[in-house]
Amino acid sequence: MEYRRINASDPLYPQACALRESVLLRPLGKDFAWFMEHYAETERRAEHFVAVVHHPAGKRVVGVVLLIPDFPEAGVGKLMQMAVDLQRQGEGIGKRLVIEVETRAFGELGLREVFCHAQNSAMGFYERLGWAADPAEFMEAGTAHHRMWLGQPSEEPG
Ligand SMILES: CC(C)(COP(=O)(O)OP(=O)(O)OC[C@H]1O[C@@H](n2cnc3c(N)ncnc32)[C@H](O)[C@@H]1OP(=O)(O)O)[C@@H](O)C(=O)NCCC(=O)NCCS
Repeated sequence: MEYRRINASDPLYPQACALRESVLLRPLGKDFAWFMEHYAETERRAEHFVAVVHHPAGKRVVGVVLLIPDFPEAGVGKLMQMAVDLQRQGEGIGKRLVIEVETRAFGELGLREVFCHAQNSAMGFYERLGWAADPAEFMEAGTAHHRMWLGQPSEEPG
């Protein structure tokens, strides 16, 4: 398994988008065109991390996640579009991708906080990685979410 950061001109990018659509967006009743309608600017700014298997027939993307640096403000990053191939879930691929994002965010980029909007069904995944959850629940893309984060929260205390 190879873990890499790619950009939108990489030959693996269409595969990564197709994986996001099938694993993440379709179960919510959305497709990639819907995502681009609502998040085109986010997509443009995103760093794309992929998990790739090398098959004799060619490379196959089995995991993907995005990091939007300095969003919504300097020093903060948003993790989004976390998806692992249905047949490869539970092997530690998601965990390794989040660690890639954390290493990049807190290392080279020097961010102080990374956050995500976690679907309720995925909260345990981020909790296992040490992320904290805000208690407030909100709806996004028609399903319940919580804001989860790692690092120094952006709000000033008190
Ligand atoms: C959630 C998802 C990204 C996890 O990826 P994965 O590769 O299957 O997870 P991993 O194998 O790396 O799991 C890491 C740890 O989290 C736990 N875990 C994984 N998914 C979990 C879940 N949904 N709830 C609770 N714990 C979970 C695993 O048991 C494992 O625990 P361990 O370290 O004690 O062994 C993947 O299941 C997925 O793509 N789901 C569908 C899309 C989705 O929900 N994306 C997130 C939207 S916010």
